[in-house]
Amino acid sequence: MRVFGVDIGGTGIKGAPVDTEDGTLVAPRFRIPTPQPAEPEAVAQTVAQVAEHFGWTGPVGATFPAVIRAGVAHTAANVDESWVGSDVSAVLGGALGPALGGTEVAVVNDADAAGIAEMAFGAGRDTAGLVVMTTFGTGIGTALFLHGQLIPNTELGHLEIHGHDAETKTSDAAREREDLSWEKWAKRVNRYLGALEALLWPDLIIVGGGASKKADRFFDHLELRTKVVPAQLQNEAGIVGAAMFAAGEQIRPRPAPRPARRRGPATRPPGGRRP
Ligand code: BGC
Repeated sequence: MRVFGVDIGGTGIKGAPVDTEDGTLVAPRFRIPTPQPAEPEAVAQTVAQVAEHFGWTGPVGATFPAVIRAGVAHTAANVDESWVGSDVSAVLGGALGPALGGTEVAVVNDADAAGIAEMAFGAGRDTAGLVVMTTFGTGIGTALFLHGQLIPNTELGHLEIHGHDAETKTSDAAREREDLSWEKWAKRVNRYLGALEALLWPDLIIVGGGASKKADRFFDHLELRTKVVPAQLQNEAGIVGAAMFAAGEQIRPRPAPRPARRRGPATRPPGGRRP
């Protein structure tokens, strides 16, 4: 199935038609800088321009950097306050109009979208158990998967560490703002991921977002008991995940591993029957 995926970020709005069977972009992505202030109407018009660039008609999936429930934004940590409480799906739908071909815009949290794409086609492919996707960009986004199934809207980027909202000290934007060396920043990332692992005991942590392109600069400094891998889809994860979400394809749930056989005394008395 072909779906138009659009990734709404703080600095850019990027989109492309996606083949949801294999997660590939059907045409090179197109990007327009996010209008400032990034208020609903202006953002929606920009999304429509990105779709127009491809002459798109059909279903559209969009990411948004906030808690999204049934198309409505509930937070605005790194976006204009005016989005809180707004129906993102309806606002985008109004601007896209006939381009939607009668469908509705499916809206998903940006980290959840990136996770959906990584679980299907990237670093989390074929991984059962608990997977935590993290995105280090303007903020810190997280997505949680249990046996391939998304647990939506986790906001673990706002975990309080040493009295600070983690993303204010450990996002990629914080690295740039404070001009931190990769090593110094890696120490903060390590502390943050260490806090996550102590609370969740995941089987795999995927590190995505802008910084994942530079994994070679900081991965060697990470010391965690959990396996940590860089994201593989990088720039395209949001677009692909948004399209997959809209296609309702998410990811096929993986069978939970069977519990280990119990050893020790049999529950049934030898030769006896269960009562
Ligand atoms: C927001 C999340 C978002 C993350 C990454 C955080 O500030 O609260 O909803 O996923 O930034 O953009």
